[in-house]
Amino acid sequence: MRTKNLEATARALVAKGKGILAADESFPTIEKRFKKINLPSTEETRQSYREMLFTTKGLGDFVSGVILFDETIRQGTSGRTPFTTVLEREGIIPGIKVDKGAKALAGYPGEKVTEGLDGLRDRLAEYRELGARFTKWRAVIAIGDGIPTRFCIDANAHGLARYAALSQEAGLVPIVEPEVLMDGGHTIEQCEEVTETTLKSVFFHLHAHRVALEGSLLKPNMVLSGKECPTQAGIEQVAEATVRCLMRSVPGAVPGIVFLSGGQSAEIATAHLNAMNAMGDHPWELSFSYGRALQGPALETWHGKAANVAAAQKVFHHRAKLNGAARRGEYSQSMEAAA
Ligand code: 13P
Repeated sequence: MRTKNLEATARALVAKGKGILAADESFPTIEKRFKKINLPSTEETRQSYREMLFTTKGLGDFVSGVILFDETIRQGTSGRTPFTTVLEREGIIPGIKVDKGAKALAGYPGEKVTEGLDGLRDRLAEYRELGARFTKWRAVIAIGDGIPTRFCIDANAHGLARYAALSQEAGLVPIVEPEVLMDGGHTIEQCEEVTETTLKSVFFHLHAHRVALEGSLLKPNMVLSGKECPTQAGIEQVAEATVRCLMRSVPGAVPGIVFLSGGQSAEIATAHLNAMNAMGDHPWELSFSYGRALQGPALETWHGKAANVAAAQKVFHHRAKLNGAARRGEYSQSMEAAA
């Protein structure tokens, strides 16, 4: 296996001061995001939006890689430069989401399993041709009455491991994303317990599938209070619980952990990452692979209007810069105002 190349790519994706932009929203998800600014989701609006993001000057100073969606990896700028070329010119590595979404798990009400393994080997070969150097697969675990079940956790971990092995076979770094959702009234302690159980199952299955951890990245949730939990853990408590949970479940051979934002506000997601990096050195790089927490403020500013592109890019660049600072534990709330 081309482990050396995989390792080099994985390390480049978690270079100091940088992280990943998740811009791989599926058709239903981007439609949901655009609805907030009253914009219909069409091929043109999706292209314009992604062009605004990817042509932001200096983005490569803080963004190491971008996760694209199937439609997006085939698109380019209005001047017909492929997006993959635009990103590479900025020193940014193109990646691709390869799962086909989380679907209801038969026999297990309220739980989901991610689909997309059939035909994956062929799709991976095509994505590599199109310029992708890494991939992402997301599994979701919900906390609720009697869930998650052990069966759901293991079924998702098995899927993640099968995907990761295929991705490495194709010479593409897998980003393994088991997301414990923040929806619900559960406590931070419940989130920590479920996250630890989930990660241990994921690494058991990755080992069984002979995945080279050095050439992979983990994309987990942070350990948080459920959105509807009456007591909300503070920044330091989240940072401590998250690092403790990861120390107990993630081998040091993994080069980096790139968190999802999962519905946290942009500022809180940055503050959490910063607090973890400010704790000192960890066995792995602690970085970001944010979707909403990176794009949210820029999307609001853009509002679907060409006249707002420059302003939106400024906001986007600033958000990326703040997360770059959080990678080093050098972010402070006062830096928010500089936008
Ligand atoms: P969020 O940061 O918005 O959770 O998105 C990250 C992602 O890629 C989810 O799959």
